[in-house]
Amino acid sequence: MLRSHTCGELRITHVGQTVTISGWVQGIRDKGSLLWIDLRDRYGITQVTIETENAAKELVETARTLGREFVISVTGKVNERYSKSDKIPTGDIEISPEKITVLNPAITPPFTIEDETDGGDDIRMKYRYLDLRRNPVRRNLELRHRLAIETRLFLDKLSFLEVETPVLIKSTPEGARDFVVPSRMNQGEFYALPQSPQTFKQLLMVGGFDRYYQIVKCFRDEDLRADRQPEFTQIDCEMAFVEQEDILNTFEGLVRHLFKSVKNVDIPELSRMTYADAMKYYGNDKPDIRFEMKFIELNDVVKGKEFKVFNDAGLVVGICAKGAAEYTRKQLDELTEFVKKPQIGATGLVYARYNADGTIKSSVDKFYNEEELKKWAAAFNAQPGDLMLILAGEEHKTRKALSELRLEMGTRLGLRDKNTFACHWVIDFPLLEYSEETSRWHAMHHPFTSPKPEDIALLETDPGKVRANAYDMVINGVEVGGGSIRIFNKELQAKMFGLLGFTKEEAQAQFGFLMNAFEFGAPPHGGIAFGFDRLCSLFGGVDVIRDFIAFPKNNSGRDVMIDSPSPISDVQLNELAIALKK
Ligand code: AMO
Repeated sequence: MLRSHTCGELRITHVGQTVTISGWVQGIRDKGSLLWIDLRDRYGITQVTIETENAAKELVETARTLGREFVISVTGKVNERYSKSDKIPTGDIEISPEKITVLNPAITPPFTIEDETDGGDDIRMKYRYLDLRRNPVRRNLELRHRLAIETRLFLDKLSFLEVETPVLIKSTPEGARDFVVPSRMNQGEFYALPQSPQTFKQLLMVGGFDRYYQIVKCFRDEDLRADRQPEFTQIDCEMAFVEQEDILNTFEGLVRHLFKSVKNVDIPELSRMTYADAMKYYGNDKPDIRFEMKFIELNDVVKGKEFKVFNDAGLVVGICAKGAAEYTRKQLDELTEFVKKPQIGATGLVYARYNADGTIKSSVDKFYNEEELKKWAAAFNAQPGDLMLILAGEEHKTRKALSELRLEMGTRLGLRDKNTFACHWVIDFPLLEYSEETSRWHAMHHPFTSPKPEDIALLETDPGKVRANAYDMVINGVEVGGGSIRIFNKELQAKMFGLLGFTKEEAQAQFGFLMNAFEFGAPPHGGIAFGFDRLCSLFGGVDVIRDFIAFPKNNSGRDVMIDSPSPISDVQLNELAIALKK
């Protein structure tokens, strides 16, 4: 080994020992008679101190040729420092070197390898291997590792088997576009990369592996956001002989175990909210319940006066921001601008301040007198000091916009602390949603999700009303996982494909393998998949999952380090029989 110890290991108890450490030069300070080198590796930093007048000439010369990020090895004696540092764990000692070996010189890095770097996002992505040397990035990947280990330990104890499923498959309809891979041996045909191992894990259940999991890469060609990458990782799980209750309990257990073992945080039993309530009270199927601020519907309270905006609206709905009555005009204008942004889509914002002296002043005083405003306050259960914020318009759009405003107010009022974790289940999702764009029903989760038995009759008459045995786990407003109890009966599965607009032949061609398997004794089964990158970022208190992926893609789906995607040669194209449009 080119080292006897790491750069984070040596303490006062090692004083007097001769050691060898290796690493990267973090910095050098040359004061003439004294020269210090900070040597860094994954484990920490150790100071190497050279008294230049007493040291060998050759050693001093070598030291003076070093630059930042040179890879060196230092052999020397561990000494107690005269002036100790409590900033680093090795701050009590230093190394007095006998030998310095340059293992590899380095050119000047394009940004500083410090916790607070001067490098912007783009340059750090291009030189990701240098970014990986920085403590915050390294710590994120260590956290990811710990979460993966604890997941495996927990699931192994419950007899889950980790089974690998193929990466070159046939399209699984999870709602996004597939990444496809042309086949050389079957020209004109394509594999698809899995959006998830959904059908394989169900087939594993038919194969008798009653408890499966896999920490697995999934691929989705969809628009990217802070919490989406084109290739991401799931903790993918499936169980046979279970009902929804069993899945919720098992995986609530997993998440509580992860919080306890990795962050020493006790998570109480998870509460459950129906999809219908989530939409009604939060306008969102993944509500952040770190704070209340539930929606209050006001149609009955505000309609019938001269105010056309409210009278014409399908829905008038608001939130009460506790203690925000003293918001200035400027702050209220900012909120109005916020809701009018195209991505939020409201036409305006009505507010009413419940002042500390008990008076109420609204932005629509022309239409509503104090007595009427008191009725608003009663509906909101508002107290003096509170601010009522109201939106009006078409029901769906208005709920969506108010949901954004609620989150914005939560942030402004400091109610979304990153170290507070509110985990809960959203259950009873609709089975289907209607797409105006394609004029047909789509599976809200995926086509293998079973309807609630009591709603099956509605499949014929009112498909939009059918609820599914489907659930999401939500933490701090982030959908970290989702799953369902599956259909395991061929006829019901065929009916489902029919509802989704597949002809019998199409369903057979695409999913015959699964429906046929259901005829050979498929057990009742269900499962869930967690977004592993999202879980890591939540644990790390950061919104961007990219920071928790060793080699992520940028927002245009590019790996700027290896410069991919990239064109392929004509030879490769010919072999694949692919002609590019000129
Ligand atoms: P679903 O599509 O809900 O379910 O995905 C499960 C979880 O994966 C995460 N996720 C993502 N994370 C990062 N980038 C993405 N592009 C991305 N897309 C999804 C989310 C999500 O909750 N086969 C089903 C699971 C099942 O039914 O068992 C599935 O994949 O956190």
